Amino acid sequence: MTQRLAIDGGTPILTRADYQNWPVLTADDRQYINEVLDSGIVAGGTAPQVTALEREWREFTGAKYCLTTGSGTAALHMALAAVDVGPGDEVLVPSYTFLATASCVLHQMAIPVFVDIDQTTYTMNPAQIEAAITPRTKAIIPVHIQGCPADMDPILEIARRHGLHVIEDACQAHGAMYKGRMCGTLGIAGAFSLNNLKNLCGGEGGLFVTNDEDVLKKGDLVRYFGDECDEVTSRQKYNASILGYMYRNQELPAALARGQLKHLHDLNNTRISNAEYLNRELGKIPGVIPPVCPADCKHVYWFYAVRFDPHAAGIDAEPRRFRVAVEKALFQEGVLVGQWQTMPVLAQDVFQSMIGIGKRYPWAINEAQGITYRYDPGDFPVAQMLCDTYTNVHSIHPPNGLALNEKIVAGFQKVFANLGQVMDHADDDVKPGFDGRLYGVG
Ligand SMILES: Cc1ncc(COP(=O)(O)O)c(C=O)c1O
Repeated sequence: MTQRLAIDGGTPILTRADYQNWPVLTADDRQYINEVLDSGIVAGGTAPQVTALEREWREFTGAKYCLTTGSGTAALHMALAAVDVGPGDEVLVPSYTFLATASCVLHQMAIPVFVDIDQTTYTMNPAQIEAAITPRTKAIIPVHIQGCPADMDPILEIARRHGLHVIEDACQAHGAMYKGRMCGTLGIAGAFSLNNLKNLCGGEGGLFVTNDEDVLKKGDLVRYFGDECDEVTSRQKYNASILGYMYRNQELPAALARGQLKHLHDLNNTRISNAEYLNRELGKIPGVIPPVCPADCKHVYWFYAVRFDPHAAGIDAEPRRFRVAVEKALFQEGVLVGQWQTMPVLAQDVFQSMIGIGKRYPWAINEAQGITYRYDPGDFPVAQMLCDTYTNVHSIHPPNGLALNEKIVAGFQKVFANLGQVMDHADDDVKPGFDGRLYGVG
């Protein structure tokens, strides 16, 4: 079939007007936000909205304890501090994730050690963990990336054998399930983000969960300056017993998250049915590799990533060049595509330069003992392969449904039926991506 591609002057398959923005706001959001305005209470560790959100998130996840936090990053840092990860300790993190999974380790003066990902799920590969463990390893942070559950059973088993803590980065995985268990509740602590992009959105914010009372207590101290509260009056003592931070959330984001939580199950189901439709239809196109949901798991598709294989598509091109050319052609057809992370996390300058805190801390702590660290992206071929070949298709979030995704499939079909033209435009000055309004950003 030869059709004139939009990148070649043809008519695009769809326009921005075909897309609806995230988050989906409802009367429930307005009700809880009005409760804040009517109450006049806007902040406080035991204020009504944060307290209710903590209770409702415990009920939703089955976790024993929950604390609201200012961000997912704060929740991760609290978890590391609460399990006594400290200066010079090593923490295993996946090679492909958001920066905060690894930078929270630096915040605790500990050293991130990277483990490559699995090539079908893009989560930490359990088979590579033991080779990364040293006498200094204290914890593992698996990430349920883009809503796909990490393979927790082998990770928990390795951690048990080596006496390591497992802290789950569930920042992208609200409601995801691993073999009948809620992601975020399987390790010693779990962290969720409530930022505007996430399946559960509070604008900003986070949730820290644990089943361990000591971890809860220490996490709570870390959350609020390390300051003790009087057990009878709940008043602050102004006497910090440990080093803490200001990681509380406040009433308005908590109110929005509560309104959103009422619909999380249905919103996730829309994501899943959008993903299942795209998996089925895009999977028929040679050279397009849809995401995989592991057996016995519930993937909640925070984002929807496909990979491209030039050889399967019949094109003799280097994978990165092919991916970029296809992204440009899709984008010109009106299909909002583009990368999220563009490189393995350890390729970022902060790791390459190892400037860190002060003069090369935390690495310098162990380097003084003759231990060396190297962050070579070449050591993580699966993360590198993923970054060369994937793009995110931004049509997965509700209220978008079949009407939009049928057009997305038509856009892919058109582009993949005309790959000769696509490659002719590989060097065009086109910058795929989306405008911030798509995800509630001004
Ligand atoms: C995997 C992952 N970890 C951690 C974070 C940090 O969450 P936040 O932005 O709420 O600090 C995010 C979110 O951006 C994330 O996607």
